[in-house]
Amino acid sequence: MGAAEQDTGDAVVGRVAGTEDATPLVFRVAVSPQAYLQLDDVVVTSREVPGAGPVTVAGVVTEVTARHEGAQFASDVFLISDGVLPAQVQETAEVATTRTAPEMWVPPRPGAAVYRATDEERNRALCFDRMDRKVPVGLGRDGEPVYVDLDFVDGARGAHVSISGISGVATKTSFALFLLHSLFRSGVLGRRATNARALVFSVKGEDLLFLDAPNTRLDGDARKRYDQLGLPAEPFRSVAFFAPPRPGDLTGRPNVTGRTGGVGGFWWTIAEFCSQELLQYVFADVEDERNQYTMVVHQVAARLRSQGTAAGADGAWSVAGRLLRTYDELVEFVVGKVTDEDSRWEWAGPAVGTGTVNAFVRRLRSSLKAIRPLVRADLPLRTQHPVSTEGQQVTVVDLHTLPDRGQRFVVGVVLRAETERKEAAGPGGLLFTMLDELNRYAPREGSSPIKELVLDIAERGRSLGIILIGAQQTASEVERRVIANSSVKVVGRLDPAEAGRPEYGFLPASQRVRATLATPGAMFVSQPGIPVPLAVEFPFPAWATRQSERGGPPAGGPDPGPAGDPFDLLPADPFADPDPPPF
Ligand SMILES: Nc1ncnc2c1ncn2[C@@H]1O[C@H](COP(=O)(O)OP(=O)(O)OP(=O)(O)O)[C@@H](O)[C@H]1O
Ligand SMILES: [Mg+2]
Repeated sequence: MGAAEQDTGDAVVGRVAGTEDATPLVFRVAVSPQAYLQLDDVVVTSREVPGAGPVTVAGVVTEVTARHEGAQFASDVFLISDGVLPAQVQETAEVATTRTAPEMWVPPRPGAAVYRATDEERNRALCFDRMDRKVPVGLGRDGEPVYVDLDFVDGARGAHVSISGISGVATKTSFALFLLHSLFRSGVLGRRATNARALVFSVKGEDLLFLDAPNTRLDGDARKRYDQLGLPAEPFRSVAFFAPPRPGDLTGRPNVTGRTGGVGGFWWTIAEFCSQELLQYVFADVEDERNQYTMVVHQVAARLRSQGTAAGADGAWSVAGRLLRTYDELVEFVVGKVTDEDSRWEWAGPAVGTGTVNAFVRRLRSSLKAIRPLVRADLPLRTQHPVSTEGQQVTVVDLHTLPDRGQRFVVGVVLRAETERKEAAGPGGLLFTMLDELNRYAPREGSSPIKELVLDIAERGRSLGIILIGAQQTASEVERRVIANSSVKVVGRLDPAEAGRPEYGFLPASQRVRATLATPGAMFVSQPGIPVPLAVEFPFPAWATRQSERGGPPAGGPDPGPAGDPFDLLPADPFADPDPPPF
């Protein structure tokens, strides 16, 4: 860093205080009467080191205080105000060091002038000058952009993003989408953008079904913020939406109400279910692992696969002389096999007792309601739209109409398929996987097939090019290894009890308190390259997050009617990658 004194001219805001120990990592500044410092201000000071020359110490204000110096009792304030007692008001600021240049960990010396860092000096203080590939994540309190180093997102030096905060005000989902928008549209991915994909699981309402439509609530101020961040204030451009079929409808139409076109109905055929051994994802609760029947699940899945063959035009499966066209038929068939004395040893496993078999049967039967709409061979196969991230930049899988067990099944099967696809495709492309409510899929306690998948992504995703963007209300309920493997940690508003937990140890004490007061759009972003989390505000979504915000050309189009294929109405995307069209 250059000599602060010359660069910043008259921006002296105070001097390093000598009443408390100044350390290389934290020091206090006595603010001069003509100036002020507020939280998140970036400041810089310098000192001479004998034999080494000048060393610049830069940091971020993490606390500011004001007090009467000389006052002993609370009542002194009246005497001081009346001019009877001599005292003066002194403001001080606590500064957490972000960088020393050259890198020497010496304390700044009391009395040294402290300057507000602007422009290049601010960039150096926040280490932005060291980032070759910067992802804008919002504006700092000074109205200037704040960046995250792509090296710590895309796997180069680290990967994965973990976002925590209470429901509704923490704006976790909104921030995750903003981050995707920034990754795709800031130009930071360079040529890799063509092969970068995002897979988004939507668990709450139809909020994410309008990502491709402009937001009518976006005002001029918000547009300006996008501008300052170097991002277009535009909706997502290349998006495909998938939703489960409507219950009771035999045409395969997707179960959505707000958006009528451009949504593909997805399900798995009975043949896919059997040949790919998807049964394990029906038993994907942590409680399933505690039961003895896990072996039965694997045994049944193996039997269904090895003893059957595909039949018919719509994905039925023929096994032991039976044609299975619905999940109900499949369940009854399996129940028959595992309870029948003659076939039990073969279908449930040789040394399995009736108690275990009965527990398996109960749990299998209880899956009917959740899995029935998702696994079937009674719908015309030509209307099936298998979930795939291949044809478009953003893939939204709507889960909100499904019960918990159905959601788990979809997340498990889709994640496994995408991991396998990515593994086969080799490095190069990137897949950002946004998983809301991570605590449900990778809870701290127990194990399940889905938790194994998420852990695998957390641990190997860096080399596979699969990046997890996980959101949860409470990081303390998520598997430790998932959080530990996330290089970038983000928090919005936190519950006070939650803020005290060790998972948030990366926040300095004052930021923990502030996090309990954070307003929508305000986040603290921690990344390995900078020792202090940075406070940012990200702009209001430029895409509609609900039907009432939807502007511009209608998303989708008119309802195609029972015979039509909704994807026929997917608007042509003039900006689409040169890849073949998705459907
Ligand atoms: N940048 C922003 N500034 C102000 N308000 C915002 C911003 N982004 C989103 N919001 C508003 O905050 C609301 C809640 O956001 P969001 O759904 O992202 O929260 P969440 O943390 O994901 O909640 P939940 O845990 O319930 O899923 C949104 O309805 C949106 O209108
Ligand atoms: Mg959310």
